[in-house]
Amino acid sequence: MSDHIFLIGPMGAGKSTVGKQLARTLGRPFFDIDHEIVKSTGADIPWIFDMEGEDGFRIRESKVLGSVIDAHTAAVIATGGGIILRASNREVMSATGRVVYLSATKAQLYERTKKDKKRPLLQVTDRRAVIDELFDLRDPLYRSLADFVFTSGSIQIQRVVDDIAEQLSPS
Ligand code: S3P
Repeated sequence: MSDHIFLIGPMGAGKSTVGKQLARTLGRPFFDIDHEIVKSTGADIPWIFDMEGEDGFRIRESKVLGSVIDAHTAAVIATGGGIILRASNREVMSATGRVVYLSATKAQLYERTKKDKKRPLLQVTDRRAVIDELFDLRDPLYRSLADFVFTSGSIQIQRVVDDIAEQLSPS
């Protein structure tokens, strides 16, 4: 079994930033699933949603998750907010590593994403309502999958990273 560390949580929780810094702190390779999807598709995420819909994106997301997991060992892997929607993604993450939920409040998530132009699900008139709805739907899934829950809220990134590193070691 490989010993990956998966960062899960909503859009705007800071998974990529925390993940990158956590990987550096632990001396592990870092992968960002959204970034790997863009690399393998040769198109950005809004384009994939436009052309293939959310379903097409989810198919690509599961494939990329599987190949990153298989191609590496002991990596830090930042995932997209919707990765937990498919049971097969949840199962493969549980089976191949430890899962860290980076949580934040609805208000913090709104603040951090209010200028976003790249996340298709947030390009709506009432962004606050979508953030609330996704939170209510997904927070129980994040919690049930997570081995650890950390608040990324208003604390400094490095503190969150240090807390996670301390909890996770020795690996
Ligand atoms: C999504 C989150 C995004 C990206 C896509 C869909 C979601 O990733 O995968 O826009 O369903 O929550 P981030 O959580 O990194 O923003």
